[in-house]
Amino acid sequence: MTIGKGSAPGKVILSGEHSVVYGYPAVVAAIGLRCDVTATDSTDGLNIIAGDLDRSVSYSSDDISNLLKGKIIHPKLDNIAVAALEMGGSDLQTTIKISSDIPVGAGLGSSAAVSVATICAVADLQNKQPKPEEISRMAFRAEKIAHGTPSGIDNTIATYGGALRFQDGSITRKQIKSNFPMIIVNTEVPRNTKELVTNVRELKDKHPNSVNSVLNSISKLTDEFEKMFDEGALIRMGELFDINQGLLDAIGVGHPKLSELIWKARDLGVLGAKLTGAGGGGCLIALTYNVEEAKKISEKLRSNKLEVYHTEISSAGAIIGDSK
Ligand code: MEV
Repeated sequence: MTIGKGSAPGKVILSGEHSVVYGYPAVVAAIGLRCDVTATDSTDGLNIIAGDLDRSVSYSSDDISNLLKGKIIHPKLDNIAVAALEMGGSDLQTTIKISSDIPVGAGLGSSAAVSVATICAVADLQNKQPKPEEISRMAFRAEKIAHGTPSGIDNTIATYGGALRFQDGSITRKQIKSNFPMIIVNTEVPRNTKELVTNVRELKDKHPNSVNSVLNSISKLTDEFEKMFDEGALIRMGELFDINQGLLDAIGVGHPKLSELIWKARDLGVLGAKLTGAGGGGCLIALTYNVEEAKKISEKLRSNKLEVYHTEISSAGAIIGDSK
């Protein structure tokens, strides 16, 4: 049996979620949580086994031709099928098996990481070495299935890793000056990126002046954040997290649970905290002075039975082949 392996990281948007959909800049970083995929040869078409979603499905050749015409076959898994077919061609016969540390639907880029890791596993199976820009482009087509009109930021960071500025599909890779000790807390409130992006668009259509001025403020804040990031100015970045959270609340992507936990983290002494990704639930990120502080505060949050990750920016992006 021939086997291919692929792996890709989750991400946190440090500044610029939602505004990035309208061509404004964002700063994003890869994290240590990863998705691993194996692709094995099969004789019965395309099969997907998603352990974390507790699902296993098969795509018949009719399903595949309908999927490629834009029909929905298995809502939560179609992006993975499209990713596999993008890399392997429409007559691909393989079994894709996913194992991921990244919580699903929590704003940490799980779907893009799965798409990218799937492309890498199929490439490995077929002894191919696509360039990063090709991997990201294929994953973007798969992301459109999952998220409607995504900016492309998630597939880009899942491919390149590290930290980068993203604007309108162009990227600038960032040097990481400080070790950026972050805490990620999962509110465990499920949400849907496609819906949240649509809600912001509808609010913008209804109140163009007000919403455009908030998006513009997020864009200015992101430029400032990028400068502070380049200088490793943690305290200033924490302050900008807090301002950013207010702006994101203003365009309706907050949630009472997010606010409650953001204030809890601030009370415990983080430098600043904000939602990350589409919001409406999902995860928040908080910045701390150093790793020891991050560990201490994480422990206190965990003792409240919260799902907490203590992580730093990870330089590893997509990996074709064995990552272990
Ligand atoms: C993506 O993680 C977050 C949003 O900015 C949507 C996008 O950029 O596609 C809300």
